[in-house]
Amino acid sequence: MASKEQIDKKKMPKHIAIIMDGNGRWAKQHGKNRIFGHKQGAKAVKEIVEISGEIELEYLTLYAFSTENWNRPKLEVEALMSLLVSSINSETRELIKNNVRLLAIGNHDKLPKNVRKKLYDAIDATSKNTGLKLVLALSYSSKWEILEAVKKIASQIKEEKLQVEDINETIFDQNLTTKDIPHPELMIRTSGEFRISNFLLWQLAYAELFFSDKLWPDFGKEDFLDAIVNFQQRERRFGKTSDQVQQKI
Ligand code: IPE
Ligand code: IPE
Ligand code: MG
Repeated sequence: MASKEQIDKKKMPKHIAIIMDGNGRWAKQHGKNRIFGHKQGAKAVKEIVEISGEIELEYLTLYAFSTENWNRPKLEVEALMSLLVSSINSETRELIKNNVRLLAIGNHDKLPKNVRKKLYDAIDATSKNTGLKLVLALSYSSKWEILEAVKKIASQIKEEKLQVEDINETIFDQNLTTKDIPHPELMIRTSGEFRISNFLLWQLAYAELFFSDKLWPDFGKEDFLDAIVNFQQRERRFGKTSDQVQQKI
């Protein structure tokens, strides 16, 4: 189990993204309904946001609800939406106190009006904060985001504001909902599933992946620190040789 002291400040990832998975299975294991599992999951979110602030992480993106999750039973979707609203109600003051800035990515047109308003009020209320940037992926789909970027770029070309030859990675990045957010260096998924599930497909192109067997409500501060320590022990080669990376040649 890692502790804060084991983190090498010089090798900190700027941005960690998490697929918080396993609330339903956690609930089942404890003989409770799925909604109870999601509530417990919200407590884990609080812990991870806290430790992220303590270790001075710049960006934390949490996959809270995918566009595919709209296909879950109506009752579960409604419970997740009201959990989101109640979490925003209970936590916004704490976020402000801890200098956390809330951001959100995803197809927010699909969110119920009251949820969207709550979310954007909290984003506004924290907009002056300069500490951790907490990015909620809500009603998020990476394929949707990529298609939206293609549409935006296509219309810029149609309006002759952009030339086809000028399309590059930077332009593409600027047309994603993650515009201005650095790509995550580390992606964590809990619950022993080895999938990306339509999360940040473009942005994770060179991320280090860390899979934990723990179900999200059981994923605590030490587990998060373990993932960072593990990340810091890896050699990121970006296609080069190990000798090149270590500057032996
Ligand atoms: C993750 O937990 C939370 C959301 C997707 C909203 P799940 O609800 O997917 O939990 P499992 O995978 O069914 O255990
Ligand atoms: C991914 O989890 C989405 C979130 C964590 C919000 P899911 O549980 O929805 O993903 P699949 O269905 O296992 O791919
Ligand atoms: Mg799941």
